[in-house]
Amino acid sequence: MNNKILITGGAGFIGSHVVRLFVKKYPEYQIFNLDALTYAGNLENIKDIEKANNYTFVKGDIKNIEFINNLFQKHRFEAVIHLAAESHVDRSITHPNDFIETNVLGTANLLNAFRGIWQDNYNDKLFYHVSTDEVYGSLGKTGLFTETTSYDPQSPYAASKASSDHLVRSYGNTYGLPYVISNCSNNYGANQFPEKLIPLFIHNIKNNKALPVYGDGNYTRDWLYVIDHAIAIDEIFHKGINTETYNIGGFNEWTNLNLIHLLCDLMDDRLDREKGTSAKLITFVKDRAGHDRRYAIDANKLNKELGWKPTVTFEEGLAKTLDWYLENESWLNSVTSGAYQAYYEEMYG
Ligand code: NAD
Ligand code: TYD
Repeated sequence: MNNKILITGGAGFIGSHVVRLFVKKYPEYQIFNLDALTYAGNLENIKDIEKANNYTFVKGDIKNIEFINNLFQKHRFEAVIHLAAESHVDRSITHPNDFIETNVLGTANLLNAFRGIWQDNYNDKLFYHVSTDEVYGSLGKTGLFTETTSYDPQSPYAASKASSDHLVRSYGNTYGLPYVISNCSNNYGANQFPEKLIPLFIHNIKNNKALPVYGDGNYTRDWLYVIDHAIAIDEIFHKGINTETYNIGGFNEWTNLNLIHLLCDLMDDRLDREKGTSAKLITFVKDRAGHDRRYAIDANKLNKELGWKPTVTFEEGLAKTLDWYLENESWLNSVTSGAYQAYYEEMYG
């Protein structure tokens, strides 16, 4: 059952960890990794498994209907784990259509192609849609997002992900397409593109560049180590109930400013700098438009029903992450050359 699996977005940050876990843990599965290799996709992220017998990489775009239909007809995937997306809120503010095209229309193309091969006879098939907690909008000082929290997306990124979640549920309801959805909090770890807060700030601290803190910095996020997200996806893929949603989170809320100060201290330590040196780089800049104040996930359903909980503490996860970025200077240098410079100029002047 479910032996031929298509993972989309497997050259990106989270997808690469999911692909690695599945390829290594399930030699009996055939894993296909479909990725367009946008600026965020990098085959270096999965170099260690590229020669595995149960692994095939396919370069392609989920926006391309004909290509997607042909790929599904050729391989007749029994399951899809869909992670490919435009994923950065700031880019969605400057280029919203890219998000609508990939996240909404791309997801629709995958759903239609999946229906196309199984003709609505779905014995032992599964479409797993990976989503975000940002679909729920912003919390006040208290409260947590649960699986029944109403959708209230605030950025074009969040709206595009919400829209794709709705599409998946509608295909389940209308055509009986079997699906699960998970909505996860902010991830951190190795191979995250340095546009997101943690890798961007590690990169800037290392290079003595300003640390651009949006607004007053008192925004709260719930951080989860990426490998714990991959483990949760594995659990949900194998044990999740058809049509159910699972929230995934780290039980780990931090204001941006507290997190940034922690990062600065840890980096001072690693770079043999006097304590307080990196914190001098903190620079308050214009706030992000429509900035969500607080995200926090109640992951108790996943814990109670499927027995998942984070395997590493934030302290351990952050230490592993900082060490990875410091030991993989060439990865960071390669992804920050070329187009990254233009992006940085556009975002941060
Ligand atoms: P990422 O930006 O690092 O990677 C996305 C991958 O998708 C890249 O490899 C890219 O090349 C590929 N891709 C983009 N457009 C494509 C297209 N049109 N066709 C084929 N491939 C395409 O993103 P990520 O942070 O790894 O996020 C993966 C998924 O997890 C996304 O669906 C995102 O919404 C979700 N998610 C992310 C977080 C987070 O904190 N990063 C949290 C919760 C959920
Ligand atoms: P980010 O990593 O972009 O994730 P998300 O917006 O999906 O939560 O940002 C995390 C938080 O850090 C968010 O409140 C915005 C803030 N932030 C900054 O203050 N400065 C930055 O340069 C970036 C990229 C983010």
